Amino acid sequence: MAYPKTRMRRLRASAGLRGLVRETGLRAEQLVLPLFVAEADVSPTPGGDVALPALARLPISAALERAREAADLGLGAVLLFGVPSHKDPEGSGAWDEEGIVQLTARALKQALPNGPLVITDVCLCEYTNHGHCGVVRETWAGQSSIDNDATLELLARVAVSHARAGADIVAPSDMMDGRVGALRHELDSEGYADTPILAYSAKFASAFYGPFRDAAGSAPAFGDRRTYQMDPANSREAVREALLDVQEGADMLMVKPALAYGDLIAAVKRETGLPVAAYNVSGEYAMVRAAADAGVLDEREAVLEILTSLARAGADTIITYHALDAARWLH
Ligand code: PBG
Repeated sequence: MAYPKTRMRRLRASAGLRGLVRETGLRAEQLVLPLFVAEADVSPTPGGDVALPALARLPISAALERAREAADLGLGAVLLFGVPSHKDPEGSGAWDEEGIVQLTARALKQALPNGPLVITDVCLCEYTNHGHCGVVRETWAGQSSIDNDATLELLARVAVSHARAGADIVAPSDMMDGRVGALRHELDSEGYADTPILAYSAKFASAFYGPFRDAAGSAPAFGDRRTYQMDPANSREAVREALLDVQEGADMLMVKPALAYGDLIAAVKRETGLPVAAYNVSGEYAMVRAAADAGVLDEREAVLEILTSLARAGADTIITYHALDAARWLH
């Protein structure tokens, strides 16, 4: 039945009708707020901190304050990134029991036992002096490469140290092959069989990580991340990555970035059936903030539209620097 019997506008005629048939909703409890926690002697956030308040490097006390706000607004989780003062070739600070993420996780679980869950990013790039996510090996003629298998053991140590500090979920973001299995194995044998793994399964080599790398001080000192992060042109490969992570024991899967990758959020959801998280990354946040500051976008409308689109694509969980704002707007 087509027009004139069918009139699509009938169900759009009032807010009541639109509300009655709305297909996708957003809940504060599905939102995750990233937090950058810095060691005391790290210099304050460079320049952008007013334009990009959610990317500020925080001391533990300020991170606790934001987590408290997150709790009051009913957010599901915070996602911790560490900004250490000491870096070395292996990134040993990443598994230091007294490291900044470990201290913060402990403080958060103690201060807010019923607060948002604590997810920790498991990676080495913030802790290595070369800024890569794995162990760097010199090969021939001054070339270097990332040693996949040597990196797995280090990542597993990081994950266990996070679990020991109280992390509710660990999230490996390095894109080494086999890391989900390595983490699962080590967590299980250390007594953390119940700690879920949120795998950054389809993580692309993206231009949209720029503001994050400034905030976390994790830009690679040479080369780029294209030998481990995915080519933005590939979708079948993204599904393979996701299926492998399922086989290795991932509990939740992530697609990252989010805005230009809605097709993959839908594909990963459809092909795996696992809970899917979308990471609305720093550059995506920066675009909206810049447009809002320039007066060309309504920030509230734009953000809620973006987050709804990610939920519509299939994201169960959404990691966003706008999480506190969005939760306020939803209430
Ligand atoms: C660490 C990591 C990065 C992001 C999350 N975890 C940076 C990168 O891979 O270069 C980016 C998040 C963002 O841009 O918001 N590997």
